[in-house]
Order: sequence, then structure tokens, then C-alpha cells
Amino acid sequence: MSHAASNHETMTLKIFAWRQKNAQEKGRFEQYTAKNIIPEMSFLEMIDVLNEDLIAQGIDPIVFDNDCREGICGTCGMVVNGVPHGPEDLVTSCQLHMRRFKDGDSIYLEPWRAKAFPIIRDLVVDRTAMDKLIESGGYISAHTGGVPDGNAIPVSKPDADTGMDAAECIGCGACVAACPNGSAMLFVGAKVTHLASYPQGRIEAAQRVCDMTDTMVKLGFGNCSNHYECEAACPKGISVRFIAKLNREYIKAKICG
Ligand code: SF4
Ligand code: FES
Repeated sequence: MSHAASNHETMTLKIFAWRQKNAQEKGRFEQYTAKNIIPEMSFLEMIDVLNEDLIAQGIDPIVFDNDCREGICGTCGMVVNGVPHGPEDLVTSCQLHMRRFKDGDSIYLEPWRAKAFPIIRDLVVDRTAMDKLIESGGYISAHTGGVPDGNAIPVSKPDADTGMDAAECIGCGACVAACPNGSAMLFVGAKVTHLASYPQGRIEAAQRVCDMTDTMVKLGFGNCSNHYECEAACPKGISVRFIAKLNREYIKAKICG
């Protein structure tokens, strides 16, 4: 009979997980042991294995958010060893692999920490504020005709490239969690830049940037004060130059209307 992995291929890890029943309750770290962890497992599979063990012991499993597990939905937000999405550059928590860690390592798991993201339970936060930002203007409502009409409008290569780079944002909120001010300016900058880069999106560009900026303030997100932590934490490599673009679009909208 073959085994999935021999003993020397598995790891045992000390997990310090943030446990908190709701936004009101005081949270605390609890220590657990994750056994039989294979380096090829994703980080979320490691938590699955640990949770099965906790359930077998009659302990509540660690609650965390996830959906696609392919780095595209943006829901698997968690802080791993103090870093949103963990120590690997340009990957989401679900795309982080256990080969990044060593047998015997200690791993600290925490939820996003930001005023605009109240904790729901354990590692899950309420990211409704991100949805509200999109509802306030992160879309195109102008009538753009049918598919042939849309495709007939020329877009310059630099604008198309900028728009596509900005469109890589998956709305995970790591930028907010990494920012000492809890700012959402990288996220909003990406949305504003994405839509302003195309002729269809320029129609509402001035209204959009004003509405999204006002909504950011109302929802309790902070301001950008150039720490660049957002760019460092972003799993999609969204550049802080989109924050500069957001500022330029905002000033242009206020001056020109
Ligand atoms: S800018 Fe990056 S970190 Fe922020 S929401 Fe988008 S993908 Fe996530
Ligand atoms: S679960 Fe979808 S990006 Fe991680």
C-alpha cells in the first residue's frame, strides 16, 4: 500500500490562531499543533487539516473566508506572521504553499486589522465597506451600445496597458490591512484608473472619483501618507502610481467639474 507522503515529507507546525467570536468580544491567540502537513499543501489546506483535527477534539474550527482558492476572488484575507497574505510576494493566502515553511515553525494567524473591517469571527472580517465603495461609483452605467460599437472605439496601447494593470485588483483588502492609516486608496486608485483608461469609463470619470472619495471618508478608511505598505502587501502587484492617478483625477474633477 502506498502512502501520500512518508514521515520525512511531513511537517508539524505550531499555530497561534486569533480566536474571536464577534466584533464585541475580546480576541486572543490560541495555540494549536498542525500535524502531517505536506509541503505541497496550500496554506488553506493546512488550516483544513488542522480544523479536522480540532473538530475531532471537540474544539470549534478556526473560521476563515475563502472561495476560489485560485487567487482570483479576493476573499481569503488573513494576516500570516504579521504580513497580509503571508511572506510570499505576489500571492494570496490560498496560493501560498506550505513549502515556504519549515518543520517546527511557529505561524501566527490574524484577521485583517482596520477600522472599516469589523471582525465577524476569528479570521473573518466584514468587508462590506469594499462593496459600498464599488456601489458608489466603481462601474460604468453609460450606454455604450452593443459589442461591435464597444470594439469599434480605438484605445491607445498605453491606455489599454494601464487599464489592464489596474484591473488586476481582486478587491481583497490587503492594502487596507497593511496601511497604518487603514487607507483604501490603492484599491480605489486601481478602480478609478481602470475605468478612466477607457473611453466608455471617461464619461462618468469626474463623478466617479468624487463619489468614491467621499464614500471612502464616510466609511472610516484613512488617508494615504506614503508608507507604500499597500503596494508591498498587494498580491497582484498594484502600483502606488494609481494612488497618484486617483489624486490627479480628483483634482481634475474638482477644478473642471
Ligand atoms: S489593490 Fe491589491 S491589495 Fe488592494 S484590494 Fe486590490 S488586489 Fe487587494
Ligand atoms: S480564495 Fe479566492 S483569492 Fe484566495
